[in-house]
Amino acid sequence: MKASGSTLLRYVVLTSALVGAFEPVSTAVVAGMGAAALGRKLYHYLYENCDGNWINFNSSALEVDLQAKLFGQHVATRVILKAVSGFMNNENPKKPLVLSLHGWTGTGKNFVSQLIAESIYRKGMSSGFVHLFTATAHFPHEMHLESYKTQLQQWIKGNVTNCPRSMFIFDEMDKMHPGLIDSIKPYLDYYETLDGVSYRQAIFIFLSNAGGENIVQVALDFWTAGRDREEIELKHLETALSLSVFNNKNSGFWHTSLIDKNLVDYFVPFLPLEYKHVVQCGMAEMHAKGRTPDMDVVDQMARDMSFFPKEERVFARQGCKVISSRLDFYI
Ligand SMILES: Nc1ncnc2c1ncn2[C@@H]1O[C@H](COP(=O)(O)OP(=O)(O)OP(=O)(O)O)[C@@H](O)[C@H]1O
Ligand SMILES: *[C@@H]1O[C@H](CO)[C@@H](O)[C@H](O)[C@H]1NC(C)=O
Ligand SMILES: *[C@@H]1O[C@H](CO)[C@@H](O)[C@H](O)[C@H]1NC(C)=O
Ligand SMILES: [Mg+2]
Repeated sequence: MKASGSTLLRYVVLTSALVGAFEPVSTAVVAGMGAAALGRKLYHYLYENCDGNWINFNSSALEVDLQAKLFGQHVATRVILKAVSGFMNNENPKKPLVLSLHGWTGTGKNFVSQLIAESIYRKGMSSGFVHLFTATAHFPHEMHLESYKTQLQQWIKGNVTNCPRSMFIFDEMDKMHPGLIDSIKPYLDYYETLDGVSYRQAIFIFLSNAGGENIVQVALDFWTAGRDREEIELKHLETALSLSVFNNKNSGFWHTSLIDKNLVDYFVPFLPLEYKHVVQCGMAEMHAKGRTPDMDVVDQMARDMSFFPKEERVFARQGCKVISSRLDFYI
C-alpha cells in the first residue's frame, strides 16, 4: 500500500512537472478534451439516446411482465411474446413489425403496448422514441386530412431518421380516416429504403375495438359449451377477426389494402374479461395504490360492476378500465 502510494505521488509530481513544461494553451486543450469526454459520458448517462444504453430489449422481462401483470389474455400473451421477441432478435428484418391489437374495451390493449415499450425502452412510454397517436385527438377534422397526411408522414420519416428503433402506436385505429391509414402504408412495407431511410427496425402497433364483438361471441360459445377459456386458441379467433374487419365498412381497415398486401404481421385478439379477472385487476390496483390488497373490498367493487349478456353475466362490460377510479369509492 505504502509503496504504491508513493509511486502514485511520484507519478503525479512528474506529470505536473511535464505539463508545466508545456505552454499553457496546449495544457488547456488537453484538460478541455478531458472535460468534453466526461461531459459526453455524463450527457449519454442523463439524456436519452438512440443507443444500447437506452434501447435494449429483454425478452425474459417481457415474458415475466406479461405473465404477472396481464390477466386473462393467454392468446394475446403468446402471440405478442413470439412476435416481439422474433422481431427484436432478428438482425435483418425484411420489414418493420406491424401488430394489430383487437378486442372489447378495457381488456388491456393500451396496457400491453405499454409493457412492450417498457421491455424495449428504458423510459418506456415516456421515451422520446415511442410515439402515441390517437385518431380523435390528433386527427379530428376530416377537412384537414391532407395536412394530417403530410404531417404524419414527416413525423414518421423524421423520427425514424433520428432513431431507426422507433415505435409508433396508433390508438382508435377504427376511427382513423382510411386516407390517413393509406398514407402510412409505404412505411409498413418490404422496402429496403424509402428516400434513403430504412424503416425495417421500426415497430407499428394499431389498437382498435374492431372485431371485438366477434371475439366476444367466440368466447361466449366456449363458455356456453362448458369449455375452458384456456382452450381458446388463435385459430378459433382468426377467421372471426379477419371477417369482421373486412365486413365492417365503418372501420378504416376495410378501405385500405393493409390486409390485402399482408402488411400486418400479427392480428392479436383480446378476450373479454370475466369476474375473476376484474378481481385480479382490483387486487393489482390496490397494490399499485400502496394499499394492502383486500379481497372483501375488491369483491364488493367487482359485484357492483356491469356484466353481459344480461342473463348470464359472464363478461365485464367495461373490462378492467374503470377499476382504478372505482376502487377509491370502496376503500
Ligand atoms: N387484461 C388485463 N390485465 C391487467 N390489467 C388490465 C387488463 N385489461 C385492462 N387492464 C387495466 O385496465 C386499464 C385500462 O385498460 P386498457 O387501457 O389497456 O384497455 P383497452 O383495451 O385499451 O380499452 P379501449 O378499447 O377502451 O381503449 C389498464 O391500464 C390496466 O390497468
Ligand atoms: C432481463 O430481465 C430479467 C427479468 O426481469 C432480469 O432478471 C435480467 O437481469 C434482465 N437482463 C438484462 C440483461 O437486463
Ligand atoms: C416525431 O414525432 C413527434 C410526434 O410524436 C413530432 O412532434 C416530432 O416533430 C417528430 N420529429 C421529427 C424529427 O419529425
Ligand atoms: Mg385503449
